[in-house]
Amino acid sequence: MKITAIILAAGQGTRMKSDLPKVLHPVCGVPMIAHSLAAVKAASNESPVVIIGYGAEAVSEFLGERARCIVQNPQLGTGHAVLQAESSLRGKTDLVLVTYADMPLLRPETLKQLVETQKANPGPLTMLTVSAADPRGFGRVVRAPDGSVQAIIEEAVATEEQLSIHELNVGAYCFSADWLWEALHKIKVSPRPARDSGLYAGTGTTTPKGEYYLTDTVALAVRAGQTVQALVSDDVAETIGINTRLHLAEAEAAMRQRINRAHMLAGVTMVDPASTYIEPGVKIGRDTVIWPNTYLRGKTVIGEGCVIGPNTSAEDTTVGDCCEILAAVLEGAVVEDNVGIGPFAHLRSGAHLCKGVHMGNFGEIKDSTLGPGTKMGHFSYIGNASIGEEVNIGAGTVTCNYDGVHKNQTEIGEGAFIGSDTMLVAPVKIGAHSRTGAGAVVTKDVEPGTLVVGVPARAIRALENKKRVKSDE
Ligand code: UD1
Ligand code: CA
Repeated sequence: MKITAIILAAGQGTRMKSDLPKVLHPVCGVPMIAHSLAAVKAASNESPVVIIGYGAEAVSEFLGERARCIVQNPQLGTGHAVLQAESSLRGKTDLVLVTYADMPLLRPETLKQLVETQKANPGPLTMLTVSAADPRGFGRVVRAPDGSVQAIIEEAVATEEQLSIHELNVGAYCFSADWLWEALHKIKVSPRPARDSGLYAGTGTTTPKGEYYLTDTVALAVRAGQTVQALVSDDVAETIGINTRLHLAEAEAAMRQRINRAHMLAGVTMVDPASTYIEPGVKIGRDTVIWPNTYLRGKTVIGEGCVIGPNTSAEDTTVGDCCEILAAVLEGAVVEDNVGIGPFAHLRSGAHLCKGVHMGNFGEIKDSTLGPGTKMGHFSYIGNASIGEEVNIGAGTVTCNYDGVHKNQTEIGEGAFIGSDTMLVAPVKIGAHSRTGAGAVVTKDVEPGTLVVGVPARAIRALENKKRVKSDE
């Protein structure tokens, strides 16, 4: 059975008061449309369709190959929006799953259940409802005394009595496709509600008096004597729809809670989940402890048994097992097992810390590899460098990697000892087991096992013991 999802995303979301189309506003770091897309993908088996309008270019650029975009212009309501997909989908799908892009908390399981309910329904549609104290401007679900669903009444057209109904239309439906297209052509225009369905994206010359409500399909089915099923959600958070920035913050908190809960149940300790910010794509190993005010973003992966934070942010970063990272910012970095970082360290893209590296306070590393066991305790900048094993980088060492035109490479061999405040003027190579004196400005390559000092640094003697100089603090 072919199941195709249609996500409605054409409205501007006027009440967001934003230049950014509403559906591109992020929730836990991911634009809300991407959350909707992930949810419908689990419940459908054909490429999803997204109806776009306001900010169409930005939205379709974001979606790329992930969905088929159809432009709705002008935007005449949710019923009209779904109708835009008719010519692409007629005869090509059995069921149509419709959701709105401003409901990022809808769970894939719920949508799957919605589809299953409709598969068993002899009637043409199943809708998702929820009982909530705060109606939030949602459509009210009107039932007959026998409990059967009769209609969805939009707030704009509801009577006093209907306004007091607490069962709400969440905004997710599964339709029998053939029935849907016929029904959409029969929907009549209703008063345009004073809400956020958006500016009319056209020339400004059309100012329609009303909208075509998708929700009117319910009464149409009932009038034709057909059964409308309602699946009642037991998760009010799931139904948070976003119309304003207040809702956006609510959704953010609810999703954060959901993400953190899943990690905790999988064996991650969070000292204060309310101040732990983890994006949906992040993976964390068991027995890792996350301290407050920590942000794990993008495709970050943290291993087992780590201690992360407080006050740490990691984006698109991979961290091995048993690492301790305190008050650090990591962006596109790779950190192997048993590494200690911070406090106050900055790893930028291309930073690669091998096993057992110690990076202390006030260091910055970019596009550089630090070999196993290397120590960089205090106040250093390392950029475009390749550093061997067991190197000691003294306090204040700087790779002078930029000559104003090019980024130049620094190489440091294993076991080297770089004295405090050394300037390594790249391109430059420091041989294995050599040493630089405090304050040296190294402008030329240094042979292995050599001591250089001064400005500019010159070799003063070969080191007798070319073996490893034991790095010390
Ligand atoms: C809609 C429902 C309401 C439900 C609520 C749940 C209708 C008529 N009402 O109201 O019953 O309780 O959602 O959140 O469906 N859109 C388009 N094209 C349009 C108009 C809207 O694509 O012409 C899109 C919007 O971008 C948005 C979604 O459809 O993503 C819902 O529109 P919105 O104006 O937010 O509807 P609500 O007033 O929230
Ligand atoms: Ca809405």
